[in-house]
Amino acid sequence: MKKVSVIYYSSTGHVEAMANHLAKGAELQGAIVKVLRVQDAKVNDVLDADIVAFGCPSMDGNTIESDEMQPFITEFKIIPVEKKKCFLFGSYGWDKGEFMDKWIKTMISYDFDVIDKFVIHEAPAKQDLDKCFEYGKKLLTY
Ligand SMILES: Cc1cc2nc3c(=O)[nH]c(=O)nc-3n(C[C@H](O)[C@H](O)[C@H](O)COP(=O)(O)O)c2cc1C
Repeated sequence: MKKVSVIYYSSTGHVEAMANHLAKGAELQGAIVKVLRVQDAKVNDVLDADIVAFGCPSMDGNTIESDEMQPFITEFKIIPVEKKKCFLFGSYGWDKGEFMDKWIKTMISYDFDVIDKFVIHEAPAKQDLDKCFEYGKKLLTY
């Protein structure tokens, strides 16, 4: 069975809700899914998965969160990921997705294969959560 890791940071719960809906969609397709706060994630949760969905809000000046997510991601600057497939998702307050554009560039430079992204403004509406669920269902088809 295919393994999916959903690794996220969330300060007020918006990205957490997105993560949980993605995970439900992937589970429906029969994947073995781990949903982890980045604070609890290990490098092997990335390396052992067939596909990783990373979620983060825009923080700290229109970038990914700097105390937990940034250091975790930076580990992969030197750990080979050999085009590991990843899906990026998150939420912003005012940057209109600028943090996501930067994040995609970083992930590509670390040799991840960024298969898609989903970014929203502030709290997810029902249709955003439905979309997360649909992305979760699609994850294993990329
Ligand atoms: C401490 C803090 C810093 C933030 N910094 C930014 C920022 O630099 N740019 C931006 O567009 N939004 C910023 N936001 C807004 C968040 O990205 C937005 O509220 C997001 O939906 C939060 O998701 P979460 O509930 O999963 O943490 C910030 C929010 C907080 C609480």
